[in-house]
Amino acid sequence: MKGVVFTEFLEMVEQKFSADMVDDIIDAADLPSGGAYTAVGTYSHEEIVALVVALSKRTGAQIPDLLGTFGRYLFGRFAVTYPDLVDRSLGAFGFLAGIEDVIHAEVRKLYPDAQLPTFEVERHDEKELVLIYKSIRHFEDLAEGLIHGCLMHFGERVSVVRQTQGDGIDRAERFILTREG
Ligand code: HEM
Repeated sequence: MKGVVFTEFLEMVEQKFSADMVDDIIDAADLPSGGAYTAVGTYSHEEIVALVVALSKRTGAQIPDLLGTFGRYLFGRFAVTYPDLVDRSLGAFGFLAGIEDVIHAEVRKLYPDAQLPTFEVERHDEKELVLIYKSIRHFEDLAEGLIHGCLMHFGERVSVVRQTQGDGIDRAERFILTREG
């Protein structure tokens, strides 16, 4: 997992909780990196899981909720740090349909060692967008948060329903986005 994800996560924890909470969860998570992240470095994705688990224990918040909150926050940050990628003229559906071939393709150019999920577009029309998320890291909750962050950023009213399909290594998550009103 790229360091930028860690630095943004710790920034969010500091903003929403406190700087002490950042120190506490880094201590508790017993991280191979020691918690000293640089944006361009690469670290095990298990470190972010350990940090979220530690935050959940200290705050009582559920892990999926914390990952969802982080996803919303992260999208807001991506919109600021990669303004050229977040092209408003596409609308949320146009943008989200291009995660695989446009957005993450650009991310891969910037960071050739990025470990990215796959997003397949199963259906895309005016009213509905259906995306299939697959990743051996299983950050479905983070993906949902990023999708909500994107919808908020574009200011569009869309409902999001999730369905798990398959199991074992074939497990994937279908995100059904339906325009409201
Ligand atoms: C401008 C927008 C975006 C940028 C710049 C961006 C960039 C990135 C970067 C740098 C990573 C980390 C890769 C690594 O750890 O090696 C990542 C991972 C990820 N991205 Fe994006 N992303 C964007 C939008 C989105 C959106 C809208 C979604 C959801 C639909 C999404 C879903 C994910 C997920 C779930 C991961 C975690 C890795 C995994 O699941 O295997 N991203 N992205």
